[in-house]
Amino acid sequence: MFDTTRRRAMQALGLGGAATVAGCSTQAPTAAETETERRQMEGTATPTADQVAADPTDLPEPIDRDEPTTHEITLRYEEVTAEIEPGVTFDFMTFDGQIPGPMVRVRQGDTVDLTVENPPENALPHNVDFHAVYGTGGGSVATTAAPGEENAMRFRADYPGAFIYHCAVPNLDMHISAGMFGMIVVEPRDGLPEVDRELYFGQHEVYTDGDVGQEGKHSFDMEGMRNENPTYVLLNGEKYAWAAANRGPIEVDQGDRVRVFMVDGGPNYSSNFHPIGNVWKRAYRDGGVPEDGDLDAYADKNIQTVKVPPGSCMIGEMDTPVPERIKLVDHALSRVARRGMLAEVDVVGDENEEIYDPDAHDSSQEGPQYA
Ligand code: CU
Ligand code: CU
Repeated sequence: MFDTTRRRAMQALGLGGAATVAGCSTQAPTAAETETERRQMEGTATPTADQVAADPTDLPEPIDRDEPTTHEITLRYEEVTAEIEPGVTFDFMTFDGQIPGPMVRVRQGDTVDLTVENPPENALPHNVDFHAVYGTGGGSVATTAAPGEENAMRFRADYPGAFIYHCAVPNLDMHISAGMFGMIVVEPRDGLPEVDRELYFGQHEVYTDGDVGQEGKHSFDMEGMRNENPTYVLLNGEKYAWAAANRGPIEVDQGDRVRVFMVDGGPNYSSNFHPIGNVWKRAYRDGGVPEDGDLDAYADKNIQTVKVPPGSCMIGEMDTPVPERIKLVDHALSRVARRGMLAEVDVVGDENEEIYDPDAHDSSQEGPQYA
């Protein structure tokens, strides 16, 4: 058996997800740090058993460090049965039981000592290929582990950006479609520009032998995948996972600059990632950032829709001058209307009618109607 206490302590050094911060146990929590914590404190949390949808607000803090360091990080390959939507279950494969897998966040030049665990109750071997790694298969050979095995690799994060990690066994498309992908952010040495809030999402598509909404257990559909004809297209592994209709919306305050990290696992579909009612004020396409220099000058400005290929990421930042519900969508909109892809972000604050007046139509001044 694995020592989970040790694992969790190690996770805290550079990993989000279920990680807890070692050494903070004497400090009483005064404020919720994630959406899940906020709801637990309010007593409005939904049961999390068998939930694969990662909490978008649960990600590591920005890097605030001038010197390189070494992170000891553990990823656990977890095969879990969970709901894609109420009444529809599916056998997912995940990193740490969540989709996307926990964000790993380091600084350019940092070293990562990565341990992987494949628990004995799993059925299949897995591994992990990090696009932030110089080395054969991005580390996938070194990290292959059969059920009941551990493995390890060490790498230095030599180039900055936001990168996918994913399982890369021979049936890699199947394993990614079942949920085995996540993101590593390698911050440039001077860091990313400061923002008020950060959110983390992952898009992928699921191929099942059922239809959307068809009750019961769905099995994996290899033929559907070969034809690139998915049943579901999802943000965080669950239909409308973080929309108001399900576990959402996520709340931010008016005036916040909100950074969104998005990884597209695919395995086959690009995302056309658009914030309805907003714009990517700054966008780092494909998660690309320069080694140094002015990141603000480098970023693309005022982009409506960012293409995110499978096996890539994006970093986008939104301003929030008015209260509204922002819908994060793949603008191939049938994936939203019919296949489950959506998240919602509520900006909480006061109307700002100079920028947006939803009540401009004054009915007392109503003139003739033109049909
Ligand atoms: Cu796998
Ligand atoms: Cu890859």
